[in-house]
Amino acid sequence: MAIAAKPYLQEVSIRPDMDLDYDLYPYNIAAVRELGHLTFHQDVTFFVGENGAGKSTVLEAIALALGYSPEGGTKNVQLSTTDSVSNLYQALRLAKSFRKPSDGYFLRAESFFNLATYMDDVGYLGGYGNKSLHARSHGEAFMAVLLQKFSGKGLYLLDEPEAAMSPSRQLAALAAIHQLVQDDSQFIIATHSPILLSYPNAKILQFDGTGISEVSYEDTEHFAITRDFLNHYPRRLEQLLNED
Ligand SMILES: Nc1ncnc2c1ncn2[C@@H]1O[C@H](COP(=O)(O)OP(=O)(O)O)[C@@H](O)[C@H]1O
Ligand SMILES: [Mg+2]
Repeated sequence: MAIAAKPYLQEVSIRPDMDLDYDLYPYNIAAVRELGHLTFHQDVTFFVGENGAGKSTVLEAIALALGYSPEGGTKNVQLSTTDSVSNLYQALRLAKSFRKPSDGYFLRAESFFNLATYMDDVGYLGGYGNKSLHARSHGEAFMAVLLQKFSGKGLYLLDEPEAAMSPSRQLAALAAIHQLVQDDSQFIIATHSPILLSYPNAKILQFDGTGISEVSYEDTEHFAITRDFLNHYPRRLEQLLNED
């Protein structure tokens, strides 16, 4: 039996020889302090958790350790307009497959605007349907990256890709992700989207005050709260808005 090429990124841990200050960012975040050995699904691994739980910090550190720039893009993009990057990437140990992915991308909602400007400046729009990312809505630009830029057999890191997408676009994104997975791709995605989280070939890692633990789709707050609200919204609204 052949050895599987996926997952391209198998595991991430903090190097044991590091001298870390747990009172300072990023080691003061529970998810970082208790990182342990994060093992990834061969298809899709989701990071979920409250705002500020450390999802972006960990995803960014993985991206930097893989050679991406903090603002994202392909590895050819070297764009850093902020100096707020944590040094976590220097402390990470990555376990990788014997096979390198042939494509890759780090997509972050937070800095997508800067990335789009950079693409205009360098005049490289070939992989993006030859149209400036600024000339599309945010959600359209994300879909352009997903559908036109990602070529398969890749390792893709996405931070809140749903940020600008309508629900129907999120469903289309789910289908696009599935196609890429079937074409030997691996994704690591930080998301709040109950639609994206439903993807079946996936592992969901929940970031919270105790660290990082695996959770099933229906046990995520995203699923439970959304379903409860939509099923009972008149009553839930009354409770929310009429609270003293
Ligand atoms: N550059 C920074 N310096 C200090 N604290 C930071 C920095 N970036 C993020 N933080 C803090 O780290 C925590 C985790 O942030 P982040 O990883 O962005 O969370 P998430 O993506 O899960 O919402 C937050 O409390 C945030 O305020
Ligand atoms: Mg974030």
